[in-house]
Amino acid sequence: MIFVTGGAGFIGANFVLNWLRKNNEPVLNIDKLTYAGNLNNLQSVEGHANYHFARVDICDQNAIEELFKKHQPRAILNFAAESHVDRSIHGPRDFVQTNIVGTFSLLQAALGYWRELSEPEKNNFRFLHVSTDEVYGSLELNDPAFSETTPYAPNSPYSASKAASDHLVRAYHHTYGLPVLTTNCSNNYGPLQFPEKLIPIVIHNALNGKNLPIYGDGSNIRDWLYVVDHCEAIELVLEKGRKGETYNIGGWNEKKNLEVVDTICATLDELCPRPDGKSYQTQKVFVADRPGHDKRYAIDATKIEKELGWRPKENFESGLKKTIAWYLENEAWVKNITSGAYREWLDKNYGARQ
Ligand code: NAD
Ligand code: DAU
Repeated sequence: MIFVTGGAGFIGANFVLNWLRKNNEPVLNIDKLTYAGNLNNLQSVEGHANYHFARVDICDQNAIEELFKKHQPRAILNFAAESHVDRSIHGPRDFVQTNIVGTFSLLQAALGYWRELSEPEKNNFRFLHVSTDEVYGSLELNDPAFSETTPYAPNSPYSASKAASDHLVRAYHHTYGLPVLTTNCSNNYGPLQFPEKLIPIVIHNALNGKNLPIYGDGSNIRDWLYVVDHCEAIELVLEKGRKGETYNIGGWNEKKNLEVVDTICATLDELCPRPDGKSYQTQKVFVADRPGHDKRYAIDATKIEKELGWRPKENFESGLKKTIAWYLENEAWVKNITSGAYREWLDKNYGARQ
């Protein structure tokens, strides 16, 4: 069996679904079910013989230890995190708690379990930590892309908490020999993404006749990767990555935010034209910038390509079409999560920006 933490979130759920499609090995999804965790994401595998779920907070070391004892997994993959930069600016405490203390608790529980394993089992065990390119800080336009040796320089409470967790993971390998792997990935997009991040909020707002909020002048750059490509990369790192190593994962696909919003509008104009015949472009609004907004992220994914033979399969145009088609077909999913608490978040984050 493998453990997946945060499997009810965007990337974790895509990972679990992809895993069960391709493998015949059980997976235990460990999730606290915060606002970002949604069991509807996993409705299609409810009752699947290889899918199991435990509602547990990763900060609860005793509960995690019990799960290790009971299920004897060969690996744990840590997706669980507070993941939204804007929320980390409004309320950093949860980020420190889950991302740092939670990862520490998982490491402690995993170390205790790993030490009791037989030598062959010890050799096979893996602690895979899913992290982000944001730990490397911000690039200028002409800087080379982030590589695995780029020094850490996190700028937001979110990225600082992820950086701290990466350091703990690294230290448990260096000090105790725990067989860890770390992946640092760029911006994901695709089905099941909560409509608080750029791509899903723009799609959701466009379809509901609302403003498409663009922070600052829209010139910030991100590297975009289709979520299933990320999941495939993680699986490959789990099976073939070298213990103690980190692997950068990216889409070779840098885009200005404005370009991303324009492409979404153009795709929606084609797939789902507005009743009045006007373009979705007319809904674009420039709003006050994110404090400390990182200018540019770019990933050099040469290491994972050369060592493990991974490259993304989807390009931005094909991935975005699939994503938009998914949101158009899954209005009920969106309706379910855009209730009271979601609207409160919109007021908090966007109310003062207009
Ligand atoms: P998400 O916010 O959609 O989901 C996070 C999941 O973790 C939710 O199901 C939530 O309920 C769960 N969770 C939160 N706190 C928990 C706790 N204390 N105990 C147990 N479960 C808890 O996040 P995501 O976008 O799917 O990101 C998953 C991971 O990938 C994160 O570690 C994030 O830092 C990393 N990452 C994300 C991106 C991206 O673009 N979304 C890119 C690179 C890396
Ligand atoms: O780079 C990887 C990271 O990507 C992950 O570690 C994070 O978990 C994930 O949330 C994402 O972080 P970003 O801050 O880059 O993603 P977000 O979708 O919030 O913003 C993308 C860009 O779009 C960023 O430059 C801010 C801008 N933006 C965002 C929102 C929500 C807007 O212009 N308007 C918006 O309403």
